[in-house]
Amino acid sequence: MRLVLVGPPGAGKGTQAQFIASNFAIPKISTGDIFRGNVSEGTQLGLEAKKYMDAGDLVPDEVTIGMVRERLRDPDSAEGFLLDGFPRNVHQAEVLDGWLGEHSASLDVVLELVVDDDEVVRRLSGRRTCRRCGHVWHLDFDPPVRDGVCDRCGGELFQRDDDREETIRHRLEVYADQTSPLIGYYGDRGLLRGVDATGPVEDVTERAINALRRFE
Ligand code: AP5
Ligand code: MG
Ligand code: ZN
Repeated sequence: MRLVLVGPPGAGKGTQAQFIASNFAIPKISTGDIFRGNVSEGTQLGLEAKKYMDAGDLVPDEVTIGMVRERLRDPDSAEGFLLDGFPRNVHQAEVLDGWLGEHSASLDVVLELVVDDDEVVRRLSGRRTCRRCGHVWHLDFDPPVRDGVCDRCGGELFQRDDDREETIRHRLEVYADQTSPLIGYYGDRGLLRGVDATGPVEDVTERAINALRRFE
């Protein structure tokens, strides 16, 4: 299955991506995670991306597109993949269609996680991530037993630099201006399926997997 997840920041793309990818046995490719990995390793790509990420702006297409192209060349994604965070504007979507077309392939489905802006702000302001294993927690909705410590691995929890309230508001504007046109782009091509992404994580996972089963 070749699947794209779309939805505003904080919709739960990363949270759901791990369950969906393992259910359908496809690799999960998250551009935000790849960028953050590069930032923490101090690579040139990370240095370039960081200033845009901290401001809540999109990293320029010429940086992002090259990075995703490399990742999609890995043999594990030849038969299927889940993309989380890419494409994020219509140009990136057109480029992706072009790459797939070179191999006579195409996307099977685009799943939109639907939540409102207030829920997004609540989710992002309480998000905490484990520095060691990358697991994502939430102070109210999915709290770790001990403050600041990951239950899974004992690692330290941190707050993402772009999860401050003013940056969250700006990321929502960027989503509305640049990313939400993808809803029309994929809708016109008959690829879009929407699921309600509110309520408990397990319920959202179940709705998502049910919506995707027929594309397997
Ligand atoms: P990226 O990392 O993709 O950020 P994003 O789209 O803003 O999305 P988030 O990761 O913030 O949210 P999510 O939907 O994954 O939610 P999560 O599951 O964590 O991108 C970061 C930056 O990188 C961008 O701003 C840009 O600069 C750059 N970038 C990335 N891709 C790019 C591209 N293609 N082009 C250009 N630039 C790019 O959940 C959020 C919180 O809610 C968590 O705490 C979680 O525990 C909680 N939660 C999840 N589900 C539920 C639920 N059902 N109920 C209650 N709480 C829940
Ligand atoms: Mg994410
Ligand atoms: Zn951990």
